[in-house]
Amino acid sequence: MKLLKEKVINEGIVLSDQVLKVDSFLNHQMDPILMKEVGREFVRRFEGEDINRVLTIESSGIAPGIMTALELEAPLIFARKQKSLTLRDDIFVEKVYSFTKQESNEITVAKKFMKPGDRVLIIDDFLANGEAAFGLARIVEQAGAEVVGIGIVIEKAFQPGGRLLQEKGYRVESLVRIASLENGQVTFADEEDGI
Ligand code: G4P
Repeated sequence: MKLLKEKVINEGIVLSDQVLKVDSFLNHQMDPILMKEVGREFVRRFEGEDINRVLTIESSGIAPGIMTALELEAPLIFARKQKSLTLRDDIFVEKVYSFTKQESNEITVAKKFMKPGDRVLIIDDFLANGEAAFGLARIVEQAGAEVVGIGIVIEKAFQPGGRLLQEKGYRVESLVRIASLENGQVTFADEEDGI
């Protein structure tokens, strides 16, 4: 996706070989024009899939998630993160480990918002190790609903999340794929990402 690639090139800050800072358009300040295009692109890629729910995780997944949901005219649900929690009957709970933050969160979704038969598109801002996406997929499956696919704004293709999700049979659509952040440089995985 050309606009997104340009944003990454012009505004992304390579913090280390592992981490790209994109707080000027995705993780802190958010660019609504870009997010609108992101939503449109996900809907284009998953056209014909009869999606009736979009699922993401707070907080940075909400902007691309709501724009996708708006385009689909379907509700967006964002999983909430909580450190500890008294188990209750009316929520789905999954554990998600963050390698970046080296901590586990429990993520929760109210059962009333996801039902058997729902066709769910999972959206997230970053894909690294895939922990968040797997946690969201497990929640969809707990609900007896179906994961139609996983839409990612920025995939770090040098980390294993994308491969692991595809090996489990999930369709993953990443709008840009980064092959490397070595030497302070962003290298994209392939030029076909550009539209
Ligand atoms: P994973 O879910 O794919 O396994 O990723 P990981 O645990 O490594 O990532 C944890 C958090 O860090 C996630 O956000 C993820 O989006 C973010 N993240 C991972 N790699 C990068 C990166 O290179 N750059 C930036 N900017 N973020 C990255 P989160 O904790 O859920 O934060 P937020 O959604 O509340 O902003």
